[in-house]
Amino acid sequence: MTQDQELQQAKKILLGGGVVGLPTETVYGLAASIQSEEGLRKIFAIKDRPFFDPLIVHIASANQRSQVARDWPPAAEALAKKFWPGPLTLVLPKNPSINSVITAGLDTVGVRMPAHPAARALISLMETPLAAPSANKFGKTSPTKAEHVRDSFRDENLFVIEGGPSEVGLESTVVRLSSSGGPAEILRPGAITQRQIEDTLKAAGLDMPVVRAESSASPGHTPQHYMPDLPLVIIEAEGPRIPAEKQKKIFDDFQLSSSAHGVELLLDTSPKLAARSLYSKMRECAEQNFDFIYVFRTKYRTGDLWDAIWDRVDRAASGKY
Ligand code: TXA
Ligand code: MG
Repeated sequence: MTQDQELQQAKKILLGGGVVGLPTETVYGLAASIQSEEGLRKIFAIKDRPFFDPLIVHIASANQRSQVARDWPPAAEALAKKFWPGPLTLVLPKNPSINSVITAGLDTVGVRMPAHPAARALISLMETPLAAPSANKFGKTSPTKAEHVRDSFRDENLFVIEGGPSEVGLESTVVRLSSSGGPAEILRPGAITQRQIEDTLKAAGLDMPVVRAESSASPGHTPQHYMPDLPLVIIEAEGPRIPAEKQKKIFDDFQLSSSAHGVELLLDTSPKLAARSLYSKMRECAEQNFDFIYVFRTKYRTGDLWDAIWDRVDRAASGKY
């Protein structure tokens, strides 16, 4: 199929109340039309996603934004101008017409303009925004390739648009903005860093603090998330070997025999590459014939994008040693 044919096929499915796998530059999404309650409900059903976890709405042009958000404060304008299309989701007061299935009954909505050309093309073709969470079963590793999506939903016969590997590799930064001038709250760290957000607001003449919200502020960003199919442990050491006393503790905690073997999740030294390949590597490690996965939290892997990477690894981990 050509990409045009894929997009036409996806449109047909979405108009019929179905869902499709959608490539984006962050991770692949599981998309439905915001006009189709049937499609929206299907997202929750096939992901096993709890109904209290709201979906992000994806738009392709600035004039679609008022269909989604009720207010557009100056901070939203400044951040969208700088980072859209791209890996930034803004949480804003919702337009009353937005289906409460999307927002899990909240009066705010997450909105993002993705950069991936296939995502933009499908939204334009549909002439309506698409709601899409990451295309994985709830709590599991997010997909960064079309085949990851097919693997996660083998039983559903899901149609996935082929879009190549996701360039960013981590889910978008989620920032909540209030209309009444409160702080900008980072609900989920991502490729757009706190410093970039602060600098952008300052450059726009907006004097507002940027804070990292308590994780309970993001309904779906639970402590246990992104988990691979094998237990993953973080070793607080420089490597390359697991210190003997830590190894013993891991074997005890996971009731492994003394002949058990771990496989190392080897992160790239460049944070950009580490982010891009993180979820693929987690999947590859889990598919191999080992008993657990381990990763070293080395000292030089700190700051900026590393914060988002460790946020995901921390949530994917079953233990820290
Ligand atoms: O990069 C991404 O954001 C990807 C691609 C597909 O766009 N999507 C994604 O969606 O990661 P999901 O559903 O896996 O994560 C969305 C996060 C969840 O933690 C959810 O709780 C939060 O955004 N969220 C959405 N709407 C919200 C709202 N109104 N208030 C607070 N948090 C919200
Ligand atoms: Mg997700």
